[in-house]
Amino acid sequence: SPSWPGLIEAYRSRLPVTASTPVVTLHEGATPLVPAVELSRRTGCEVFLKVEGANPTGSFKDRGMTMAITKAKEEGAQAVICASTGNTSASAAAYAARAGMVCAVLVPQGKIALGKLAQALVHGAKLLQVDGNFDDCLALASKLAIDYPVSLVNSVNQFRIEGQKTASFEVVDTLGDAPDVHCLPVGNAGNITAYWQGYREYADDGPATRRPRMWGFQAAGAAPIVTGRVVEQPSTIATAIRIGNPASWTKALAARDDSGGRIDAVTDREILAAYRLLARSEAVFVEPASAASVAGLLKVAAAGELAPGQRVVCTVTGNGLKDPDWAISGAPAPVTIPVDAAAAAAQLGL
Ligand code: F0G
Repeated sequence: SPSWPGLIEAYRSRLPVTASTPVVTLHEGATPLVPAVELSRRTGCEVFLKVEGANPTGSFKDRGMTMAITKAKEEGAQAVICASTGNTSASAAAYAARAGMVCAVLVPQGKIALGKLAQALVHGAKLLQVDGNFDDCLALASKLAIDYPVSLVNSVNQFRIEGQKTASFEVVDTLGDAPDVHCLPVGNAGNITAYWQGYREYADDGPATRRPRMWGFQAAGAAPIVTGRVVEQPSTIATAIRIGNPASWTKALAARDDSGGRIDAVTDREILAAYRLLARSEAVFVEPASAASVAGLLKVAAAGELAPGQRVVCTVTGNGLKDPDWAISGAPAPVTIPVDAAAAAAQLGL
């Protein structure tokens, strides 16, 4: 094949597919692993960004969705459903459109970024805004999938995890081995579960000789895994991870403990500082939730708990264009000038 075939073809032998499985792909995966010059300078480590916003719908969800929709099609499903803080619904809508399936999505009313809403709508999903939070949406979607002929494609669906684990494979394939530390934002905790599964598989019978420590970061206002208690009213500007009762809670704890890692909280202020640093210094525009991995790394480093000289990968999970409000509100309003070079030069301080 002349171009990257998508992650199911690329990692076929490690995924639950057969020669007759009808693969539904948008050629997701093979995302850039970008050396982070400023983060490396600040931490004394060798830091890389796994830029998942480069996937077809702009987030890591495409890795899981190519598998989930492929398996739903194989099983003869005609409709899929998901609950979402935005990215899952955008991805499900796109892959369902590709497969010719109906896609239903349940989102928390008023709490998803406009770009993500646009994606679900333009791909033709049947979208309902629920007067509740993400956790309410997931409970509702799960119930509908039991009582009606519709397949659930949230990350409680094991095929989602199977697809998402390929991000770890790519990191190892690029670096030659697992890093020392892998940092991730944590919401419903499917992705940290998937990365850990991928790293374990590649160390057990693949090219890796070792596994990383898994460092997960939740937003402080939505940090049930950190506090050990369900958060009834989760609150954070990072709407993608505004989740109070993660479905993969236990698996996230296992990833943390089995890897000798950590799951900590970062404040919205720390998330926004990392978001701006990523855009200004690394030239990588992410959505706020994605910056939680980097905010967490900087916080641990500032606490003196990151030994220098290590190799660190931070996954930045979603593209900044999905939620541009924070980019605009943090910047000075653009000045309007006449069609005049002197006026432009004066404004630009040239
Ligand atoms: N980053 C982004 C941009 C996300 O959209 C999500 C989850 C996460 C991180 C956290 O990943 O849930 O596997 O721990 N978004 C889900 C959604 C909940 O509906 O799009 P997680």
